Amino acid sequence: MFNALRPQVSSIIDSNKTPDARMQDICELLKAEIPHYDWVGFYFKNGDKRELKLGAYAGAPTDHTIIPYGKGICGQVAESNQNFVVPDVQAQDNYIACSITVKAEIVVPLFVNGENIGQIDIDSNTPDPFTKADETFLEFVNAEVAKIL
Ligand code: SME
Repeated sequence: MFNALRPQVSSIIDSNKTPDARMQDICELLKAEIPHYDWVGFYFKNGDKRELKLGAYAGAPTDHTIIPYGKGICGQVAESNQNFVVPDVQAQDNYIACSITVKAEIVVPLFVNGENIGQIDIDSNTPDPFTKADETFLEFVNAEVAKIL
């Protein structure tokens, strides 16, 4: 599944749409094609502020369009520069709930020239669905997106 999606991600990156439109297409592709991806979005550092701002996403609208560094899974990844896989969101103290249906989450930082400038965030309604294959694939997606930022 992930290997088949890689060329589709690259072809979106190679299109002549705006970067935001290409990220939107990627969110929609991943949500549509990966059964355990129920919400897919990109957050980016908001200017000089120590906070994240929601960019393109696919799935239900969220109230959490701004997330301070350190808060929630997303805010922790903004500081740690590391992938964060959460098999069970209810077991996390520092977690921001977006929907009661969400069971698990994965956040992978996005680097441009070695700097952590944002992240891709996936919510799943399936318990404990993420493996190394998700991490490797999402690292690939972020490396592709980094080319157009
Ligand atoms: N659950 C995230 C907040 C963002 S929503 O999942 C879209 C967190 O704890 O950072």
